[in-house]
Formats: sequence, C-alpha cells, structure tokens
Amino acid sequence: MTGQIPQRFIDDLLARVDVVEVVGERVKLKKAGRNHSGLCPFHQEKSPSFTVSADKQFYHCFGCGAHGNALRFLMEYDKLRFPEAVEQLAARLGLEVPREGADDPRAQARERKRKEGVNLLELSASFFRERLRMPEGQGAREYLERRGLSPEVVRDFGIGYAPGGWESLKRHLGERGIADAVQIEYGLLVHREDSGRSYDRFRDRVIFPIRDIRGRTIAFGGRVLGDAKPKYLNSPETPVFHKGRELYGLYEARQANPRLERLVIVEGYMDVVALAQFGIRNAVATLGTATTEDHLGRLFRMVDEVVFCFDGDRAGRQAASRALETVLPQMIDGRQARFLFLPEGEDPDTLVRREGPAGFEDRVTCASPLSEYLFEHAAQGRDLDRLEERERFASQVLGAIGRLPEGVMKSLLLTELSRRTGVDQSSFEALMSRGATETAPSAELPPGGDMPSAPPSEERPLETGRRQSSMGRMARALQLLVHEPALVERLPEDDDWCDQADPEASLCREVVRLLKAGGYRSAQVLLAHFHGTPEGERLAALARQAPLVPKGVRGAELDNWVAYFQRHRRQRSPQEEYDALLARTQAGERLSQEERRRLNELLMELKT
Ligand code: UTP
Ligand code: MN
Repeated sequence: MTGQIPQRFIDDLLARVDVVEVVGERVKLKKAGRNHSGLCPFHQEKSPSFTVSADKQFYHCFGCGAHGNALRFLMEYDKLRFPEAVEQLAARLGLEVPREGADDPRAQARERKRKEGVNLLELSASFFRERLRMPEGQGAREYLERRGLSPEVVRDFGIGYAPGGWESLKRHLGERGIADAVQIEYGLLVHREDSGRSYDRFRDRVIFPIRDIRGRTIAFGGRVLGDAKPKYLNSPETPVFHKGRELYGLYEARQANPRLERLVIVEGYMDVVALAQFGIRNAVATLGTATTEDHLGRLFRMVDEVVFCFDGDRAGRQAASRALETVLPQMIDGRQARFLFLPEGEDPDTLVRREGPAGFEDRVTCASPLSEYLFEHAAQGRDLDRLEERERFASQVLGAIGRLPEGVMKSLLLTELSRRTGVDQSSFEALMSRGATETAPSAELPPGGDMPSAPPSEERPLETGRRQSSMGRMARALQLLVHEPALVERLPEDDDWCDQADPEASLCREVVRLLKAGGYRSAQVLLAHFHGTPEGERLAALARQAPLVPKGVRGAELDNWVAYFQRHRRQRSPQEEYDALLARTQAGERLSQEERRRLNELLMELKT
C-alpha cells in the first residue's frame, strides 16, 4: 500500500469511469437535457441545484458550490481519503492500483504478505459462516437467537461459528495449501513451543469477524456459548491487525449509512450488534482496549461527533476519565465529543432491549458535552464552597483546557471556568500562557462573558500539524457572514477592520462590500457571484462547514471578531491612510473633525 499512485493511472481511471454512474449510485438523478440533476447531497435543499455532466465528467452544485470529478465525489461523499477513493474506483473496473516504487522488493514483499493474509482471513471467515449454518452450528444458532439476534444482523456482521475440536480450521486451510506457519502468523492457530504442536485458536465459539474500513476481514473475536473463561478471545496482533487502531463495527456502520454524522463508541461486540439489531447502526467498539488517539483520529476523519458510552460503575468512570484525556488534544474546532453514562449494571445491549431504540437514542442525545463532563469530572468529590478545593478544581480544569488545541472551545471553557469559580479570567490566562502557547487575551473578551458567545482566540501557527484547526481568524468571521449574510447589518460602516495581514482579508472586504450593497442576501447568490473562481471555492468550503457557534449568538460572535480586528489592525502606511480618507471625501462622504485633522496631518507628512 505504500508508494505514490502514478498520475497516468489516475487519468486513465477517470477516463474510464462515468461520473454519472458513480454519483447516480448515491444520489437520485434525473436526466435534464444533456445533464443529470438532483438534490445536492452536500447541503440541505428542497429543489435540485445539483447537476452532473456526462460530457465534462463533472458534478456541480449551484447552491453550495460543491463540484469536482468522480474521485472528488467519492472523497466527499464517502469520506474517503484520496488513495482510498482511487482504490474504490479501480475496484469497480477490476483494476489493480499500481504504486510507484512498487519495484522495491521490500514493498512488494509487504504487499504480497498483506494479500496473503487477507485471503487467508477471508477464507477463514467464510469457513466460520458456513459452520454456523451446518448441524454442528446448532448450539451457536440457538445462542444467537437467545441473545435476540435476527438472521439479518447475523448476516450483516458476517457472524459465524468456530467448531469444537482442535483442528477444524487448521485442516480446512491446510487442504487449501496454506502452511501452518502462515496460519500461526495471522493468529488462527496457537503454537505450543513445548510440544511443537499447533491447534485452532478459536474453538466452539461464536465468531465476530473484525473488518477494516473496506470490508476486508483482518481479525476475529470469539465468544463462548456458556460461562467458560475467557468470555471473549481476540486475534493477537498480526501483520494486518493492530487492535489499538481498529474499531469493531466501523465498516458495518458505514455500509448502513455512508453519510454518518455521529458515531457512538461502546465497549463490546454484542453492544454493537444489539444496537444494530434495533436499527441503531452507528455504534463501534474498541477491541478490549481503551480508546486510543489512533481510534479517535480515524473516527474524526469520518464524523464530527463522537459519543463515548460508559457503564455507570467505577470502571466506567475510570474509562471515561481516560477517554477525556485522549480526546482533549483532538478537539479542534468543529468537532464534538460527548459522554454518556449508562445506569449501573446495564450495557447498551441490555438497555436497548429494555428501553427500545428511541429510549437509547434519547440517552445519546442527552449525553453530556465534553465541556460539561470536564467540569463535572473535576468537581467530583470536592466541596466547592471551600476555597482550596475550588483552587484544586480550577487547576484541574485548567490542566485539561491546556491540552485542548487553540480555538473557540478553549476560550469558551476559560470563560466558563471563570464564571464557575468567580476568578477573573485574566488570571487563568496568565497561568496558561506561562505554559507554552499564547491563549485568548482577556482584553479580547466581550463584556458579560458568560454568554455562550465565542471570543476570538489566538491560534497557534500551523506547524503543530493539526489539519482543520488552521482556519484563520478572518475565515471565521467570513464563515459567519456566508452562513448568515444578514449579519452584515451589524458591521461598522467603515471596513477598516478588514485591514489584516490575513490571506482572507481581501475576500472578506469584497464579501462585506457585496453584502452591504444589498443584492446578495442569501448564501446561494453570494456563492454564485464568486462561482468558478478560487474565492468561490474558498467560500463554498466555508459554507459547507457549520460555524461553531449556535445561530442565536452568531451576531455577538461577529461583533467580537470585528472588535478584535479593529484592535489588531494592520498598520496602514501613511500613504494608504491618506488615500483611504481622500477616497471617502471624493465619494462625497463627510469626514469627522478628527478625520479632517488627520487628513491635513498626513498631507503635510507626505509632502515632506
Ligand atoms: P464485556 O465483558 O462487557 O462483555 O466485555 P459484553 O460485550 O457485555 O459481552 P456479553 O454481552 O456478555 O456477550 C466487553 C468487551 O471487552 C472485551 C471484548 O472486546 C468485549 O466485547 N473482552 C471481554 C475481552 O476481550 N475478553 C474477555 O474475556 C472479556
Ligand atoms: Mn453485554
């Protein structure tokens, strides 16, 4: 899988697939003249502004500006990364994706190994599925039925049965020419050093195949039918399976809904499957480990919201506290994490059976946002009426806030901490900035700071390697305007706040000018104005991403930004300042006394 995909292969691929077909499989299209049209899958709309052109092999939305070729569509719609999208298109045509440098014998060997493993594991998975249907699988079938699983769910998750006996799978694979050593390497056989013998790892167990994001089986989990120990057995780490990275049910969740918005992380195989049985098809489980950064990175590439689900007991609370630590550094703006605690003695499997899917969904909906949980967690076992306890509370929260990436969330939490402790926010900020990075200066905070308005925050430069957090300050302001053009009403008359050394500054000024001129009071029209230009792409990208602050407070947020920009205006050169003032008088505007004085002053200055 290493190595660049050669450009000529990509060109060839695009020449051979039909974008209408690719899109048509996911969006309902109607032929309209030479093109096809339908409802845009990238924004909410009631009448179709999304067209797909067979001639140009392009899709385009006149509403939100989304456009591109078949590859781009797959990336955006199926949330695939570029190489994955290429793989998927190539698979449609039955093509192998070549890799540059694939002549490298080591890369070749690795690739061969991966294929070998995947074949072997697929072969095993179908063996287990077959055995579940055979007479020897009766006990397992009854067990699954007792656990309330329908044949459909059993099928969707590819659940199978590993027969008893010591060599069922070993013999099956051996007859197909697969050496014991390979079976051992992929965790199917256990090898005993003492006797030199090897035998099936999974015996008389219900088998849950673990699939990677493309649906290839990479490992197994097996549950005993009774009370024997261990209850679950998992494949060990193998060349294709790293349990700190994989999540059970992720492939199945994406199959059920390629446009997932939220994923729920539960503890067990059975929880995932039981929820699916009740129509809740967005649950995934870690494989007997705590949630890792790798897991979260993977999930957040697909969805913006992750809900952690924990048992209500002590172990659950501990797991939650670990999850909080892991998730903090990943909370760049736009992402959400929430924490759901189940009643003691319940897991999602038992709960969804008792309360039904709606009941469970309600719990998910009401799960605590990260911010709330963070405060609750720090307050646990403390008497906040006592000064020193409050101090410890504050420093615990500050510690957590310090691990957040720069962004609105961080500032909001600081404001909230200040509200809860009655300590002035600037003291916290001093404490935090003593750490390493700049944080939101208190001077930037609006009066009445405990409103959920979002004061602008200083951002760390890009070099920290976070991808989406790089949205600049002006881009944030611009995004608010794109989403709610009517906000232009509150902007000051003078647009000197746009004087920023920010890549978005001139676009921002232009957008403000257009909106003020009045003709562009909907995002659509605004986007249409810039359509086909790089600015248009930029705006469309901002339009596709929801602003962080809820609707009611966006005005206040924009005011904050403008005030911030006004304080941090790029210093104009005297000439620029002079030109600007002059332009205003020439446009017939009346300058204030102060401005007239300044104009004279500049005139003198520039003359000399
Ligand atoms: P639980 O013990 O909570 O099991 O383990 P469960 O999911 O509720 O299973 P049922 O309902 O009794 O069938 C949760 C997860 O921890 C891992 C597995 O991944 C399991 O799904 N686990 C548990 C093991 O790896 N080994 C074990 O022996 C037990
Ligand atoms: Mn359970």
